[in-house]
Amino acid sequence: MEIRIELTKTPKEKPVPGQKLGFGRLFSDHMFIMNYKTGKGWYDPRIVPYGDLSLSPAALCLHYGQTVFEGMKAYYGEKGDILLFRPDENFSRLNSSNRRLAIPQIDEELCIRGVKELVEIDKDWVPREDGASLYIRPFIISTDPVLGVHPGDEYLFIIITSPSGAYYESGLEPVKIYVESKYVRAVRGGTGMAKTGGNYAASLLAQDEAHQQNYSQVLWLDGVEQKYIEEVGAMNVFFVLDGEVVTPELHGSILPGITRKSSIQLLKDWGLKVSERRITIEELDRANDQGRVLEAFGTGTAAVISPIGELKWGEKQMVFNGGKIGSLTQRLYDTLTGIQYGRLPDPHGWSVTVCKG
Ligand code: PLP
Ligand code: COI
Repeated sequence: MEIRIELTKTPKEKPVPGQKLGFGRLFSDHMFIMNYKTGKGWYDPRIVPYGDLSLSPAALCLHYGQTVFEGMKAYYGEKGDILLFRPDENFSRLNSSNRRLAIPQIDEELCIRGVKELVEIDKDWVPREDGASLYIRPFIISTDPVLGVHPGDEYLFIIITSPSGAYYESGLEPVKIYVESKYVRAVRGGTGMAKTGGNYAASLLAQDEAHQQNYSQVLWLDGVEQKYIEEVGAMNVFFVLDGEVVTPELHGSILPGITRKSSIQLLKDWGLKVSERRITIEELDRANDQGRVLEAFGTGTAAVISPIGELKWGEKQMVFNGGKIGSLTQRLYDTLTGIQYGRLPDPHGWSVTVCKG
């Protein structure tokens, strides 16, 4: 399918070098859109000027949350190349989210082509500052103007892009995280493994309460017994424990992070043992009291590799590595971002070039 292109006649002011970008606040000049209708399939892929959508107030997605999304980034490389990181993984996960939300499958190859063309058209929006990138947000919404609860017959697939800085204002400073024991985010058989708006809506009250106590995010425990560690609001978690690296296994209620998968691969490349297994918050606490937990960190596209300095669990404060970034966390951050920005060799072929500098 050919992608139609309509360029803006009124390009916006781009951020000036050194300007504080924040996360997901500014948007580039163009967006990718494609429609779906039952019987017709996906049609009319196009890149058009960024702008508001016109939706019926009865649109399904507004009432019943039939939405999915992805998060990826374009990086300004060493030699001026623009690079994507494992975009095939994002669109394969989008299709897995689609399956769970009863949304029709999309053509992953067309999506990758769409994102590459969009980023190339808006390449001057890719920030050049250290640690900044063009955050890319593909998403799908159901748009039928019908209030009965049913899977949609009409959808929009859209990709918008946003020049962004670090997700956490603290940058690489270790984050403090609140272990949530009252609310739950997801249960096995639910939608935890899908990237859908409802999971994030369900997390907001807990996040708000954590913020009020000065914690930047929530660590979710399993939705049944509230014993097992699952993940943080926008990242998967890892602990360096007893000489191995432990991360909760994927069993349906945790998002299968692409940064998680890439980190496991890098750690194994370095000869480290990585255990994907169930781990209770009690086990972690006990091990930490006995000095057996050397480091804790989170992984995510927006969060990159984020050291965890402290977990607050009930009255207990678990501090890791004296609240400072650990050496393995730093090595993982340096290696992953080195590959993403094209500064280091890419032995697994994860980087995809959008255009040469
Ligand atoms: N877990 C949740 C709930 C997330 O929203 C994210 C971010 O996308 C992640 C984990 C990390 O996933 P990824 O590394 O693919 O960005
Ligand atoms: C990402 O890391 O890309 C995410 O989607 C996390 C987020 C909800 C901002």
